[in-house]
Amino acid sequence: MGRIPPHIATVTTIILPIVCTQIHLLTKLIKIIKMNIIGTGRAHPSLTVANDMLSTFLDTSDEWITTRTGIKQRQLISHEKLEDLAAEACKNALQDAGISAEDLDFIICSNVVNEHITPSLSCIVQGMIGATCPCFDLNSACAGFIYALDIANSFFKSKSDINHILVVCAEEPTRMCDWQERSTCVLFGDGAGAAVLTRGDGVEAFSLSSFSSVEPLYQIRNLEKTPFITKKEFGGPLVMKGQDVFKLAVKSSLNDIQKVVEGNGLTYDDVDYYLLHQANIRIIETIRKSLHQDKVKFPHNIENYGNTSSASLPILLDELNRNQTLNCGDTIVLSAFGAGFTAGACLLKWSKN
Ligand code: COA
Repeated sequence: MGRIPPHIATVTTIILPIVCTQIHLLTKLIKIIKMNIIGTGRAHPSLTVANDMLSTFLDTSDEWITTRTGIKQRQLISHEKLEDLAAEACKNALQDAGISAEDLDFIICSNVVNEHITPSLSCIVQGMIGATCPCFDLNSACAGFIYALDIANSFFKSKSDINHILVVCAEEPTRMCDWQERSTCVLFGDGAGAAVLTRGDGVEAFSLSSFSSVEPLYQIRNLEKTPFITKKEFGGPLVMKGQDVFKLAVKSSLNDIQKVVEGNGLTYDDVDYYLLHQANIRIIETIRKSLHQDKVKFPHNIENYGNTSSASLPILLDELNRNQTLNCGDTIVLSAFGAGFTAGACLLKWSKN
């Protein structure tokens, strides 16, 4: 047998182990640089509209809305501005986190519509709360909270100078609906929810999915006329094929939940709470039954607020945080879906006491 040339021996016995150790450390570091939720907040409009109020001007009933959706009432914007609700939710989240707006390094705002097309809602809210950090809006429809959390997580990994990120989801979907169309307007409510994030090891996995499917859920707005437009344009209220959305919601949510739970070596029984987008109690129930889990693991508040789009998850999270349902160390899955079709799930360990 011939002898191994000295330069090959050096590579295999000295250089290779060093490179492997470096790669191992780097992988460990990338896994370690994650985030925790350290504060939550929410704000609701003052007007409560119960189902019976809707049946005074719509051909609907409390019985139909309750049995088909689980909604009993919703909070609707009347005199308020959405930015006021967003700022209130942010201030509550900052207070809960024990930091001030000056400590923020980034603000991500999830929003589908508000009165301003420009500037972004995040810029307006940044000024209102007295922050000076960079900010931007994203529109991933009702899945916006999960998308914002994933982007925040990436910021913590890629930017060493970022320590605190504020995610705020502020939505007024009731301004998108035709209030003579009983199959859509009864479903929605307005509100804002926020979460403050910092570096930590609480958030463990994400699964995001998008596929272009406009028909089931869309709204086209009217743009200003110009002397040069020759095409026909049809702006109008929200259009929804309810049963199609229902099926897409269940399928995509189950898919994302499977990825974050089984993909991380857990079973569905290992999860303490599943916090799902509050769109319809029947969607939540279908998912719960598919996972063979107890009702207590699927807290909901759709009965009080309706579907508040991307604000629904941070609003629910804030309620559970403030009423001390969540315990430090609880394993939580967040899952949401919306127009696009967009969907996402996040697996995390609750790190607040
Ligand atoms: N009050 C009374 N009747 C109503 C009604 C209302 N508010 N809205 C619809 N109906 C009627 C329909 O006109 C229909 O009547 P018909 O049988 O005479 O034609 C009947 O109720 C059944 O309608 P259907 O659309 O089949 O009901 P459904 O069981 O699918 O429930 C939704 C409708 C919208 C509640 C349900 O499909 C849903 O929640 N889908 C998901 C929507 C969603 O989550 N969107 C947001 C995603 S982010």
